[in-house]
Amino acid sequence: MNNTVYVAMSADLVHPGHLNIIKEAKKLGKVTVGLLTDRAIASYKRLPFMNYNQRKEIVENIKGVSNVIPQETLDYVPNLQKLKPKYVVHGDDWRTGIQKNTRQRVIDALKEWNGKLIEIPYTKGISSSALYNAMKEIGITPNIRRKKLRRLLEAKDIVRIIEAHNGLTGLIAETLKVEKPEKINEFDGMWLSSLTDSTAKGKPDIELVDISSRTKTIEEIMEVTTKPIIFDGDTGGKVEHFIFTVRTLERLGVSAVIIEDKVGLKKNSLFGTDVKQTQANPMEFAKKIQAGKKAQVTDDFMIIARIESLILKQGVNDAINRARIYIDAGADAIMIHCKDKDPSELIEFCRIYQKIENKVPLVAVPTTYNHMTETELKELGINIVIYANHLLRSAYPAMVNAAKSILENERGKECHEQYCMPIKEILTLIPGGK
Ligand code: SPV
Ligand code: MG
Repeated sequence: MNNTVYVAMSADLVHPGHLNIIKEAKKLGKVTVGLLTDRAIASYKRLPFMNYNQRKEIVENIKGVSNVIPQETLDYVPNLQKLKPKYVVHGDDWRTGIQKNTRQRVIDALKEWNGKLIEIPYTKGISSSALYNAMKEIGITPNIRRKKLRRLLEAKDIVRIIEAHNGLTGLIAETLKVEKPEKINEFDGMWLSSLTDSTAKGKPDIELVDISSRTKTIEEIMEVTTKPIIFDGDTGGKVEHFIFTVRTLERLGVSAVIIEDKVGLKKNSLFGTDVKQTQANPMEFAKKIQAGKKAQVTDDFMIIARIESLILKQGVNDAINRARIYIDAGADAIMIHCKDKDPSELIEFCRIYQKIENKVPLVAVPTTYNHMTETELKELGINIVIYANHLLRSAYPAMVNAAKSILENERGKECHEQYCMPIKEILTLIPGGK
């Protein structure tokens, strides 16, 4: 009985359901596990808790497993064609939902050599999703959270980040999912925007909200989430202050800080040249990056240099020149900011940037050129997309309309009916309140 039996799995949170599948597979022959790589898993759902090598070590030690090989795509076919197994064994829970097409491709491929798909009844009462939710409730340590951004950059072509400015918006970033035909879309992490953090506090975005207050926002979000955080560090302040900020953020478990190359009173970039804003001397700014890199304690933390040349109409060449200087100074990534609706300059920057030999990941904030899709940004070589202010910008008009309705009608009925979620829903929105 030397039939080859192929079982694909992520094996992030191993439970008796996995063991049962392997046990059943073993009855049919020699079991090869196709272990999905981080990249394969992240292509259709969240990043696994454990990396590939950690998961491999566990699966190799499960009784009944003869061999573990990487499965580089969600699609089984490339591995199946190499191995031509007699059987593929899978739980019967993939007949509907996002894995339906993957399953069909397995059946079609197996036909070529008379192979067979064997489906094992789903083990009741246990599932990775339930375990995942339980783990999320326990929370996460700063060490694990901090690493997550680098892991995402390795596993995904484009990392999707959304602004959060309090616990509630953090929860939206953490939990919201949209099911697409072959994948589940969710946000990969959060942006601690200076604009929305200040605005939510009724303050202007001019580095007025100090680091202690910003840190409180971070902690509020961290208490209820597990996803990585990118902190908007404004200009980073004085070099002597920035090194403390780096250590504070790192200690909390923040994954990255982005600092922008401006000096003097900082104004929001989306004002462009309508207000007085001064770009930093690139060599001076490079010193700040160097000092930050020297101050950090872990290898995980990232210092991202934000280039304001396109915002301040200094042209693409200036931006490229600065990118080279900042990379040489140790920047772990570059954010190229642009406030034009027409992203021609940004596109030109990206094209030239791709040719830089020691280039680092590229970050973009498509607030104004919002017609561009993630696929288009990915094609430009952008590795992180930040939706920088959308939760606050959508919440504010909704709140104003609700308040206006009360003033107009001198009662709450219309507001309740037109603008509000049911009372029962708000009471149970956050579990644990009952
Ligand atoms: C922020 O979100 O605070 C930013 C991005 O810095 S922007 O508002 O576009 O300058
Ligand atoms: Mg900002």
